[in-house]
Amino acid sequence: MMNKVKTPAEAERLRTSGGILAEVLRRLVAVLEPGQTTGFLGDLATKEMAALGGKPTFVGYSPDPSVPPYPATICISVNDEVVHGIPGKRVIEKGDLVGLDFGVNFEGMFTDGAVTVVAGAEPTAEQARLLKATREALELGVAEVRDGARVGDISHAIEQRLRRDKLGIIEELSGHGVGHGIHEDPIILNYGRAGTGARLKTGMSIAIEPMATLGGRHIYVDQDGWTIRTSDGSLGAQFEHTVLVTDSGCETLTV
Ligand code: MF3
Ligand code: CO
Repeated sequence: MMNKVKTPAEAERLRTSGGILAEVLRRLVAVLEPGQTTGFLGDLATKEMAALGGKPTFVGYSPDPSVPPYPATICISVNDEVVHGIPGKRVIEKGDLVGLDFGVNFEGMFTDGAVTVVAGAEPTAEQARLLKATREALELGVAEVRDGARVGDISHAIEQRLRRDKLGIIEELSGHGVGHGIHEDPIILNYGRAGTGARLKTGMSIAIEPMATLGGRHIYVDQDGWTIRTSDGSLGAQFEHTVLVTDSGCETLTV
């Protein structure tokens, strides 16, 4: 799907969408503790979003007919699950690395965002290294966004930061345009060359989402058809923001 330039009214609804998303993630992080099931947190996300006036975007989503429709409103991915974990009976344990990836539709405008946290404990040194590098990779990617920049500028900035910590960079998954739909053009890889790729334009909106591991870059899809796990069992993390491109930079919407 094409990424359309947002009218001022659409940009305003996109801001509201991103604000709802960020507020739900904040609420989940605030209540998250060991002993809860991922299903409990998933249900909470659904309720809090509805209370704030948002509609889910993930439920029912399928990239192509070979993939079963996604069955929940949020992805909750624990430890070696990098992304797309389905909320359910799994009990979160102290020290688990928990990724929360969420999508909101507010009056037809879509945003996408994610955070990763440690449940009920200070991060271990290795968890802290993974979280810091992945979060900073997102910040550095966002810092490249402005009218006229190239998608490869974002990809390159992310890759450089993740490489500095020798993290596994997942190549099969990427960021993407978002706004009138959940996945729009362009694709934004988490590795690449500066000065290459599609040119960003004021009024476009994109989701930037570095995903990294403490081990190798290889992944596989779990039996459930969705959950993405690291092949070597290492921990994975993801951070994501939706940003609106402006003449001089961008506006981060999912804060
Ligand atoms: N935020 C995810 C992405 O950008 C969407 C998860 S897939 C879904 O790929 F099925 F959960 F929607
Ligand atoms: Co996304």
